[in-house]
Amino acid sequence: MEKHDLMEKIVSLCKRRGFVFQGSEIYGGLAGVYDYGHYGQELAHNIKELWWKHFVKSQENIFGISTSTLMPEVVWKASGHLSGFTDPLIECEKCHHRFRFDHLEDKNKCPDCGGKLGEEKKFNLMFPVSMGSSGDSIAYLRGEIAPGMFLNFRNVLDTMRPDLPFGIAQIGKAYRNEIAPRDFLFRVREFDLMEFEYFVREADWEKYFEMWRVEMWNWVKAVGIDAEKVHELEVGKEDRAHYSKRTIDFEFDYPFGKKELYGLAYRGDYDLKKHSTESGTDLSFFDEENKERFTPHVIEPSFGHGRTMLAVLVSAYKEEEKDGEIRSYLAFKPSVAPVKIAVFPLLKNKPQLVEKAREIYARLKKEFGAVEFDDNGNIGKRYRRQDEIGTPWCVTVDFETIEKDAGVTVRDRDTGEQKRMNIEELIAFIKSNI
Ligand code: GAP
Repeated sequence: MEKHDLMEKIVSLCKRRGFVFQGSEIYGGLAGVYDYGHYGQELAHNIKELWWKHFVKSQENIFGISTSTLMPEVVWKASGHLSGFTDPLIECEKCHHRFRFDHLEDKNKCPDCGGKLGEEKKFNLMFPVSMGSSGDSIAYLRGEIAPGMFLNFRNVLDTMRPDLPFGIAQIGKAYRNEIAPRDFLFRVREFDLMEFEYFVREADWEKYFEMWRVEMWNWVKAVGIDAEKVHELEVGKEDRAHYSKRTIDFEFDYPFGKKELYGLAYRGDYDLKKHSTESGTDLSFFDEENKERFTPHVIEPSFGHGRTMLAVLVSAYKEEEKDGEIRSYLAFKPSVAPVKIAVFPLLKNKPQLVEKAREIYARLKKEFGAVEFDDNGNIGKRYRRQDEIGTPWCVTVDFETIEKDAGVTVRDRDTGEQKRMNIEELIAFIKSNI
């Protein structure tokens, strides 16, 4: 399959099956903004839940918080975002189209009209908003979620009383006025981030940088991203964010090229020191044992949620030819699949089959939640639909189920193989595979 075909197929499947739609679509759409339909929201939610389990609930010393998306100008001055959170912008002198200079292949002429390019400028990505009835107070939609964690450092210290090392995590929206949003969920203007700040003693930073590097790989595999498509890149000083002393990007082979998926940064003590000085609040740590006060250093693993969705979709999308027909399916890990089980009566017009199927559906729904009942069209059509939304198991109630009490057939999404089992066996089987 050609790479651009793959991207087109994924975008079209996402729309056709109710995963992702253009934001404000009925008004012509808003560039770089997307809405999630039912299956997209379920997938999105399951990814966030898995991430929270992996990096918060399973960790002894990472505390999850949730902070506001609106923050005053003073925060962004202190963090350096108002001066340093920029991309290089260039405008064509002829057609006045604007581009990200670093993304241009030929930096000497306009890619749209061939015209002469103007001066390179720094374009700030922050979204300002005027606040209050007079509108003269400026706040910003957060371009990063990290400041929320730094501003609450003292609150977490005071309420949770942690020892070093410890982390503060959150999942939430970030907003960036991207010059050229593109490639579906890859580069957008509003997106969720999943991130934590891990506070350590300066002497330990390399040890914990390495520890989280390994754990990021474990996450890649757990969420169902094809690890063979992921590559580490040591980011050079000139390309690192203004706060970073070392950064590794985790890049992914998207259909449109190898580009950033995640980042792992060593932010030093830059943020706590800056916010401490600018706010006048002491953001240092007191080590009771050594009777020593100092500013902890920070390791920051950062995970774009939309990029995770895209990498999971690209990794899961499969096609196979059978009897001259192409079957496409999303081989999601069961833990993130929007629907875990679909239940069908073999025939819609046999009340006994429908009644039994409904009874089994109700039992499974109580047990697993994300279960669908479907009696539309023929079985083949129902399988195709469930394959495309990535449902791992389809359960069919047939005449043997009711006449011989022979259980149901359970079809595996990836192999197409069917096994017969009774309901208790089915529940145990699904529990052990989810
Ligand atoms: N606190 C660190 C930070 O925000 P970043 O590299 O600017 O670092 C973190 O962004 C992650 O957010 C990236 O690794 C990427 O996954 C995602 N990301 C960044 N810009 C994005 C955009 N415009 N659209 C979608 N995801 C984006």
